Amino acid sequence: MTQPYLIEFRHILDHRGALTPIEAEADVPFSIRRVYFIYDVSHGAVRAGHSHKKLQQVLIAVSGSFKVHLDDGENRQTFLLSRPNVGLYVPQMTWRDIDDFSGGAVCLSLASDHYEESDYYRDYEAFLNAKGIR
Ligand code: TYD
Repeated sequence: MTQPYLIEFRHILDHRGALTPIEAEADVPFSIRRVYFIYDVSHGAVRAGHSHKKLQQVLIAVSGSFKVHLDDGENRQTFLLSRPNVGLYVPQMTWRDIDDFSGGAVCLSLASDHYEESDYYRDYEAFLNAKGIR
């Protein structure tokens, strides 16, 4: 089972500022089939609260910061994302909660497939069951 990991993207700096390119299958380990972003997050809100059956994702704090809590059913890890040139690879079958959004935070998600509600576990017990843990 693949583990979550941080990806440091290129950071091309000149006197005008910074630019970070991200190329599918080169900078992230899958073909990007969907992009979405979360913004204008209400103070204290918790997003996500689900696992995907097959979908892989990379999450990036393109502005501001937030915490991503990952749980594979046995191990929990928390990542603070706060740099626009760092992505967090989230493998399939990993429960995630995202919270502690700073003001103005934008969470960019690069996803390996189109939106498909049947790919979600939104119930934690069902997720653990599917993992063979309960
Ligand atoms: P939801 O999964 O609750 O978002 P988050 O993971 O940030 O908590 O999605 C919110 C709504 O948006 C829900 O009705 C499904 C819809 N949605 C799409 O239509 N397309 C998408 O690509 C995503 C991620 C969500």
